[in-house]
Amino acid sequence: MPDLNTARQTESLAFLERGCEFVFGEPGACPLPLDVLVDIHPGTLGVEQVLHGGLTAWVFKLRVGGRCFAIKRARPECKVQNPDGATSFLNELRRHAEIDALRARGIDFPGVVRPDFGSLRKGLVVSPWIEGEQVSDWDVRRLEQVFEAGRVLIENGFFEWDFCSGNVLDDGRHIWLFDFGYMYRFDPLRQMNTAGTGLNVPQFHLAERIETRNLFAWLLRIESAEGVDAALAAYRLVKEVALVSYGHLIANLRGRAAREEVLDWLRGFTTDWQQGLRGDLAALYLREAWRSHRLDLDDDLHGKTCTATTLRRCDWLLSAIERDHALLKSSGALSGEEATLDRAALGARYRALRSQAERYQHTAG
Ligand SMILES: Nc1ncnc2c1ncn2[C@@H]1O[C@H](COP(=O)(O)OP(=O)(O)OP(=O)(O)O)[C@@H](O)[C@H]1O
Ligand SMILES: [Mg+2]
Repeated sequence: MPDLNTARQTESLAFLERGCEFVFGEPGACPLPLDVLVDIHPGTLGVEQVLHGGLTAWVFKLRVGGRCFAIKRARPECKVQNPDGATSFLNELRRHAEIDALRARGIDFPGVVRPDFGSLRKGLVVSPWIEGEQVSDWDVRRLEQVFEAGRVLIENGFFEWDFCSGNVLDDGRHIWLFDFGYMYRFDPLRQMNTAGTGLNVPQFHLAERIETRNLFAWLLRIESAEGVDAALAAYRLVKEVALVSYGHLIANLRGRAAREEVLDWLRGFTTDWQQGLRGDLAALYLREAWRSHRLDLDDDLHGKTCTATTLRRCDWLLSAIERDHALLKSSGALSGEEATLDRAALGARYRALRSQAERYQHTAG
């Protein structure tokens, strides 16, 4: 079975290598002529704000004729220096174009921004400006909307990997997704996600992605500020929303004759959540928090992008080992070789990872 990541990266890198253009939308829909937009800078008339934070692009807030636009300009070189980073801008343009085509066939994508224009050669995406805040604190509305946006994308064959707070905006009424640099195509009827062969890395799924990239950082903050019971109450909301969302997802995929293997895999999560909600929610929290903090720590160590939150995640993992080693083991939270280590050995391993994270924090700057 081919590896989906390798196939995708090879194809996209070859596309970039050929220097081809990729466009969607109409230049006429842009607020200013394209040659002005490609040279946009903080002094351009109408620019009200510049966001440098993104790893792929600069984003300018541009006001023209009473309307505001987000002008996204690709960095000459993505700061994420791997094949996925290098191809993320092309990837984003392709996803917008594909979603546009599906919209033209009458499919609605709630909570997905609708850009006016994009061009690879010009390194440009022009979208309506969303007046809102990046989402790192959650309530029921926000949870329901992010799960709905992610679910409809999945149903239409789009798997979004990065729901980090910088990629989710809330305008006070609705949640919006707009950055599709790491959203890849897959077949939701026959595949679980876009990792490995599509069927052999079952740990990645919609709820896991939203939780790992965003919700568990929020739950960790609640746990530190208000204690475990408050975190569990917030986590209960998450699981209730996830359960309803997966009910819709399973019904949709089943109605379209999805593979039993995929349906059973999704049903497995809902069974776990139902059991947790009815019974021992703390045990489910321990297992899922372990999974998410562990995955995010891996990402940060791998990308050498450790922050204060990375260290807090390490501290959470260390105290889980200290307090709940037996439960971590019996609940299946520990996988592979880690499941065979005793408490002292596992603790030593995570103390070493924490030291590594501290070193990377200094160099990450
Ligand atoms: N349409 C929009 N309306 C309002 N703000 C936006 C819009 N698009 C982007 N932004 C702001 O600009 C920031 C960077 O945008 P975006 O995430 O698309 O860039 P990026 O460089 O691809 O990010 P990443 O670091 O995820 O690679 C966002 O976090 C958001 O605050
Ligand atoms: Mg982003």
